[in-house]
Amino acid sequence: VRTQVAIVGAGPAALMLSHLLARAGIDSVAIDLRTREEIEQTHRAGILEQDSVDLLVDSGVSDRVLRDGYRHDGIELAFGGGSHRIDFRGLVGASTQLYPQTDVFIDLADARARDGGDVRFGVTDVEVGGLTDRPVVRFTASDGLAHEVRADFLVGADGSRSLCRRAVPEAERLQYFREYPFAWFGILAEAPPSAPELIYNHSPHGFALISQRTETLQRMYFQCDPAEDATTWSDDRIWERLQAAVGANGHTLAEGAITSRTVLPFRSFVQEPMHHGRMVLAGDAAHTVPPTGAKGLNLALADVRVLAEELERAVDKDDPAPLASYSERALARVWKAQHFSYWMTTMLHTLPDATPFDVRRQEGELAAVTGSVAGSTYLAEAYTGWPGAR
Ligand code: DHB
Repeated sequence: VRTQVAIVGAGPAALMLSHLLARAGIDSVAIDLRTREEIEQTHRAGILEQDSVDLLVDSGVSDRVLRDGYRHDGIELAFGGGSHRIDFRGLVGASTQLYPQTDVFIDLADARARDGGDVRFGVTDVEVGGLTDRPVVRFTASDGLAHEVRADFLVGADGSRSLCRRAVPEAERLQYFREYPFAWFGILAEAPPSAPELIYNHSPHGFALISQRTETLQRMYFQCDPAEDATTWSDDRIWERLQAAVGANGHTLAEGAITSRTVLPFRSFVQEPMHHGRMVLAGDAAHTVPPTGAKGLNLALADVRVLAEELERAVDKDDPAPLASYSERALARVWKAQHFSYWMTTMLHTLPDATPFDVRRQEGELAAVTGSVAGSTYLAEAYTGWPGAR
């Protein structure tokens, strides 16, 4: 097979890119090791920045995000026995949209199928080569047949365990890495919402995040040990832990049957630059953020918005030079989001060896942020997403 752009990965970043390229008249082939069902069944974050919503709607993917999503104009930061609202609308004139990543994926996969896009799920034996010359991707399709895709450019949008990332020679890249001594215990519960907006909760019982999905299904997380085994927790024990964390700041949760429980790892990672020869990396393949603040998917969509523009130039001139400007433009936003995710994480979680000083200092930081227009404006601007494709 010959195509202009070969894409390894068929998650949201890959499919959004394939969609944007198709609109510019550029053909692509996207492949993924996972089946469509496997991707649909992976629960991820649920908050979209304004620009992410606009990208889905304005590029013609779907307007379901507006119909089935919920607009949120702020969040609550709860700490020190009370709760403080950050008013996004009032501070920066922007909102976020509660709409799960799995639904973003479904909309993109449906749009690619509707528009005749070439997307192959459930492939095996993926190999990439020719990065500095003419890229080639080899794989075995789900029907067992071996394929070779020759392309002018290659995009590694293959997630945090990226195979494309590893194809960059060590001397040609830098890797930045940070681990955290805690994780999130995430649940889905059949219950009504406990609050109109999300609650980010700092407490003597550790961090908890009260999020939502629908009128009858809620998403919540609490801080746990990274080695925690989610299967050993009863519903009662989970509710006790969550109620203690939010109760410390005056909130009470509506309880219900817990239908999903998983432990989510925390990690910060960046590989620079985001290009090598005729290959680029996009989304989690190039960078991972800890989940606090829900930047992962938004950052991936911001990457491909810039990438589609630069790839158009590259394809047009058959010249890899625009890939360097993609990397530079994308990384400017990546590092702002790295800082924001790290900052939200360290401000709100309790370190296993925290001293009373550490805890009171965090409360001082939270009071400074929520008690000042400058502080809350920074948070609001970062949370809703720095506007424009930078
Ligand atoms: C959700 C996840 C996040 O990491 C976050 O900061 C906000 C919401 C969610 O899954 O709803």
